[in-house]
Amino acid sequence: MSQYHIKSLEEYFQVYHKSVREPEIFWEEIAEENFVWKKRWDSIFDWDMKSHKVKWFDGAQLNITENCIDRHLETRGNKTAIIFEPNDPSEKAQHISYRELHRRVCQFANVLKDKGIQKGDRVCIYLPMIPQLATSILACARIGAIHNVVFAGFSANALATRINDSECKMLITSDGSFRGEKVIDLKGIVDEALLSCPTVESVLVAQRTYAKVKMQKGRDFLLQPLLNSAYKDCDPEVMGAEDPLFILYTSGSTGLPKGMLHTAGGYMVYTAYTFKNVFQYQENDIFWCTADIGWITGHSYILYGPLANGATTVMFEGVPSYPDWGRFWHVLEKHKVTQFYTAPTVIRALAKENLSFVEEYDLTSLKVLGTVGEPINEEAWHWYNDNIGQGNAPIVDTWWQTETGGIMISPIPFSTPAIPTFATLPLPGIQPCLMNEQGLEIKGNPANGKLCIKFPWPSMARSIWGNHERFIETYFAPFENKYFTGDGALRDHTGYYRITGRVDDIIIISGHNLGTAPIEDTINEHPAVAESAIVGYPHEIKGNALYAYVILKESGETRNHDNLRNEINQLINEHIGPIAKLEKIQFTNGLPKTRSGKIMRRILRKIACDEVSDLGDTSTLLNPEIVEEIIQQKL
Ligand code: WT7
Repeated sequence: MSQYHIKSLEEYFQVYHKSVREPEIFWEEIAEENFVWKKRWDSIFDWDMKSHKVKWFDGAQLNITENCIDRHLETRGNKTAIIFEPNDPSEKAQHISYRELHRRVCQFANVLKDKGIQKGDRVCIYLPMIPQLATSILACARIGAIHNVVFAGFSANALATRINDSECKMLITSDGSFRGEKVIDLKGIVDEALLSCPTVESVLVAQRTYAKVKMQKGRDFLLQPLLNSAYKDCDPEVMGAEDPLFILYTSGSTGLPKGMLHTAGGYMVYTAYTFKNVFQYQENDIFWCTADIGWITGHSYILYGPLANGATTVMFEGVPSYPDWGRFWHVLEKHKVTQFYTAPTVIRALAKENLSFVEEYDLTSLKVLGTVGEPINEEAWHWYNDNIGQGNAPIVDTWWQTETGGIMISPIPFSTPAIPTFATLPLPGIQPCLMNEQGLEIKGNPANGKLCIKFPWPSMARSIWGNHERFIETYFAPFENKYFTGDGALRDHTGYYRITGRVDDIIIISGHNLGTAPIEDTINEHPAVAESAIVGYPHEIKGNALYAYVILKESGETRNHDNLRNEINQLINEHIGPIAKLEKIQFTNGLPKTRSGKIMRRILRKIACDEVSDLGDTSTLLNPEIVEEIIQQKL
């Protein structure tokens, strides 16, 4: 039996118990047997419970790109590492071999060095799903620069916030991007953002649309000519296992987005390990994760996890609806995809379309199907199982977070029996628990509570960039010596976990995390708005949609409400991006508040969800009469 590759339920239990009983020995063996290290660790694991500083493989030296690229050259040099499938189906797909990837990454790394980027410098990457996104990330990792990828759907404002918080020295972008029929002027967004980003010294511009863009002399450089003249080899920088690999921002319930910091060694070990097991990857499989690399799912399971296993991974530039709703299945058939990983919101959107879009294509190459990002409802699960897997490809419902770096709770396909809506069992090394309202662990089954993790795992975020206090406050202060996930969960009589959703002020829209506070702040910036509160309510496709309650200033009351709604959404679009669009905006005279002035979102949520018969205790409200008024005026 190999504990790196679990092949039965019995093996899973054996490996799991070992990982809990002897976590250090377990991870030491995994690390030793499956990766190349330049120097061995001094200690496997260290956890300072006061400062919540966690270290894995401390003292070891490695470079993750050596593990993801160089070590495969001898045996898999001509094997395809990345299949790039363009937005436009008539454009040819690119098959980038490991050898070719090595050359491209080395050349890119040399360009970064030429532009003065050194180990520890932060580089912001704002690119669409084109090969340069993969190579720029790996080039940063090659030289020890810390990449900060910002999803290319974010607005100029959101981009600037993320660049400034981590003081990026360089920005890598493209002239524009293609998404379905749309052409987006990325460089224009970048130029606007950079007006308020003093730390950025240079901008590298990849060409994708070949639109004419403004180039600022001395700051902006076209990427391709620099690559063409760069040397084709670049020694990987020696990195400490605990050196930062990347920062990736995720929404907080209040304040600035949180720059989650991930380090090289533990992240590599855990993403590779989970990729192998959760997708049961085998040598000639073709893996396709439809996420954008701008999110953690893409970091871990389009790039690092698959490449560390020498896999072939698909990078898709387009959208599921272009040129029609059969595109995913067309791509799947074309590249004979064996593992397909997507989000429930996408499944729901696809399921709404005519089944003939699926039936046209041969999907028999599929072995495993995955979902991630939000709870999957039963209907979507069955549609996915019956029509895409056709009963032959088990579904893995994978629960994890930007903070966790890799998949935490998930079935192991062909071993763990799946039940719709259950993420099932923790992966080796992961020790979940449920906490009650009194802050105590609920032992025994069944149970329902707040989901925590009792013991650190290799790929957990080490900190929030520049704000370790906030890291402790958010994740370790709620429950002593436990990592708090922010999710609620129930555990059934067999020990299976089902994630029930966020228990904090974060709302998940189409699988994207959105904090309520920054959205409310944006609404309040509108000159006619006095105050606002947003909540999530169920939406057929997006899972949740945003419902806003807005109090207008006197000056706003005489204005046309639909115009105001458009203006508010325009502001949201500019400050955060289209994903935070307010589905419904109800103007109201007041908001239910506690005596200490806190908005009772619980009540607003119930109203938005049409659950008014069960509003719970409203006696602590300062203004209980407003509740009835809001219900009467509900949209
Ligand atoms: C939140 C993390 C990690 C990849 C994408 C999201 C929710 C994630 C599931 C699932 C139910 C899920 C949780 C979590 N979530 N996967 N399988 N079932 N909920 O990363 O943006 O950091 O969001 O997504 O609420 O806390 P993220």
